[in-house]
Amino acid sequence: MKKFSYLLLIAAVFACKSKPAVSDRTNFPITETVFGKIDTATVTEYTIINKNGMLVSILNYGGTVTKIITKDKAGNDGDVILGYDSLSGYLQKGNPYFGVLVGRYANRIAKGKFTLDGKEYKLATNNGANALHGGLKGFDKVIWTVEKLPGDSSIQLTYKSKDGEEGYPGNVTATVVYSLSSNNELKIVYKATTDKPTPVNLTNHCYFNLSAGADSTITNHELFIQADKYTPVDTTLIPTGKIELVKGTPFDFTVPKLIGKDLDKVQGGYDHNWVLNRTGTGLERIATVYHAASGRFMEVFTTEPGIQFYSGNFLDGTLTNTKGGKKYVQHAALCLETQHFPDSPNEPSFPNTILKPGETYTHTTVYKFSVK
Ligand code: GLA
Repeated sequence: MKKFSYLLLIAAVFACKSKPAVSDRTNFPITETVFGKIDTATVTEYTIINKNGMLVSILNYGGTVTKIITKDKAGNDGDVILGYDSLSGYLQKGNPYFGVLVGRYANRIAKGKFTLDGKEYKLATNNGANALHGGLKGFDKVIWTVEKLPGDSSIQLTYKSKDGEEGYPGNVTATVVYSLSSNNELKIVYKATTDKPTPVNLTNHCYFNLSAGADSTITNHELFIQADKYTPVDTTLIPTGKIELVKGTPFDFTVPKLIGKDLDKVQGGYDHNWVLNRTGTGLERIATVYHAASGRFMEVFTTEPGIQFYSGNFLDGTLTNTKGGKKYVQHAALCLETQHFPDSPNEPSFPNTILKPGETYTHTTVYKFSVK
């Protein structure tokens, strides 16, 4: 009997050893759950968790990030992005691109047209006369092929966009790798190739509220954007082509500032592209967001020349199937969409967005979470 208890003890110790404590493990296996169906296609949610307990979930539908769970300064978990409890939420008319991958061209192309090599291309228009976020069925509304990459922290999504889709020329293959690091970084690496010259501008459209639901708006979030300049827009949110200084205007976030401070001074709210101060073409930290009450701090690093800061102006509390039935009122969240400038195909003075055969579009953005 004594010998038997001793054996049990050894077995128990061995069992503990073979399952290390959370903090000893680098990563956890990526889990997959069925989120719903679109026609015959299964919509799957992939969940990545790191050793700190940070969690990111992503759908194969639209490459949508559905959850980002991070700890506040008291160690409590909270979901810091807007979203829905079910697929029907994501499929509802007027879903304002919650968490999605945006393409083939993020933001607006004026009048839904551009001329390339002497030929005019007409795009699907879905925002008054303009084309917004890739058209009627952009990269946010398609099923991506998902592959788990070696290790426990990355998934790769692939979408093949056909020549002529939404009016764009060329067969484009886009791949996006989402990774979660042990430093609480959500890294997104975008790549694309084409067989005909075409505009390409990819981004992610997460709506952040670092209070994780405690604050109904982001007016108490402090924002820093490393940009001395921005691109002013006309009444349809198309850049005028000018590049103006932010100094002395509500657009100045060169020193961290509460979003609510000057929000009322910007007609319609913030929905503009900032021209980032960059020292090169590598990954640079260009924006931070801080929510003092929770202590949550988010840093944004990118290789892109611009960032769209959108203060959730069109949210009006009417979306259904929201997480926990929450009303997403105006300014409930903010988007920081790293990108090339809107309407670049019609603005020769803006950095080039035309991808040619033989070239590879590459863009890396990192959203890093901590507390202070
Ligand atoms: C971007 C645009 C906004 C709005 C949102 C989605 O941020 O600039 O005008 O269309 O996407 O609602």
